Amino acid sequence: MPDPTPLDPVAAIDRLRAAFGGPAAHRTLHAKGRFYAGTFTPTAEAGALGRARHLHEPTPVLVRWSNAGGNAAVPDPKPDIRGMSVKFRLTDGTSTDLLGQTSPRFPTDDPEEFVAMTEASVHKLTFPLFLARHPRMVPAIVAGVRGKAISSPVTFAETTFYPIHAYGWLDAGGRRTWVRYSFVPTATKADRLERRFTGPDRLFEEIAARLDRGPVTHEVRVQVAGEGHDPHSATSVWKGARELVAGRIVVAEALPDQEDAGPVVFDPTRVVDGVELSDDPILRYRPVAYTESVSRRG
Ligand code: HEM
Repeated sequence: MPDPTPLDPVAAIDRLRAAFGGPAAHRTLHAKGRFYAGTFTPTAEAGALGRARHLHEPTPVLVRWSNAGGNAAVPDPKPDIRGMSVKFRLTDGTSTDLLGQTSPRFPTDDPEEFVAMTEASVHKLTFPLFLARHPRMVPAIVAGVRGKAISSPVTFAETTFYPIHAYGWLDAGGRRTWVRYSFVPTATKADRLERRFTGPDRLFEEIAARLDRGPVTHEVRVQVAGEGHDPHSATSVWKGARELVAGRIVVAEALPDQEDAGPVVFDPTRVVDGVELSDDPILRYRPVAYTESVSRRG
């Protein structure tokens, strides 16, 4: 993998903000989102591979579902990636975050290329030219289109989210297993509400109505790295990897705004005892960019 281009986080956030023109107080990306509360319950299979406390007991979670763009005024029916951020609040007072989005693959290992792609994606007519100049990104974009990552879903409750990066689970003896997550919904078309939601906030109205009826569940699945599977790259594909169900996130209720007292920050490098980070350059860059974004949110 070539070394990533050095990218000043101040410049990165300036460029991303300029691309979307969203208000300064919002997140630079994933500007439109709301908070929810639930519980993660792990499986015995997860506990056998990892000693982290949340892999052994039910753990409260704070969830934020979001649209990916940097302008919160863009209506929900517009095409966009969607996000599901999960903060696991462990019973010892520590916490760890996973940030999923709807594209199953990430197009680059270089933060500079990610920012350039995000800028280019705002201009729908010329975006194909950008891709023509960056052919290595095309397979991930095609996987996203095939997986309907960008089309507006009927509901977050039927949407699969991919946290992309690999994490190392350590067991009680210190043995490490690299895993890669997906959040896979259990809801199907048959569970849909009778009412149709069509307005600019339709995803958030739908999920609120659905939660009034009952909880929303995503299975947390992990691929387990085997021979030849690279954990240190956001673009690597783990063909043929074993998959297991690590637990379930059951969201029970919509919460009021959680940011009156200051910004809530989801950070993919926030880990707890028993979980290790890889050297994935995208993962390592993200907290630098997020810190700059958070500093501007006030
Ligand atoms: C170099 C690559 C990336 C950059 C520069 C970047 C940048 C950002 C920024 C600036 C924010 C706003 C942070 C804040 O103000 O709190 C954000 C939010 C977010 N990003 Fe990224 N991102 C990158 C990669 C990714 C990847 C790989 C994923 C998913 C696997 C992802 C998912 C999210 C989600 C879900 C949020 C919303 C967090 C929330 O709900 O508060 N990002 N990103």
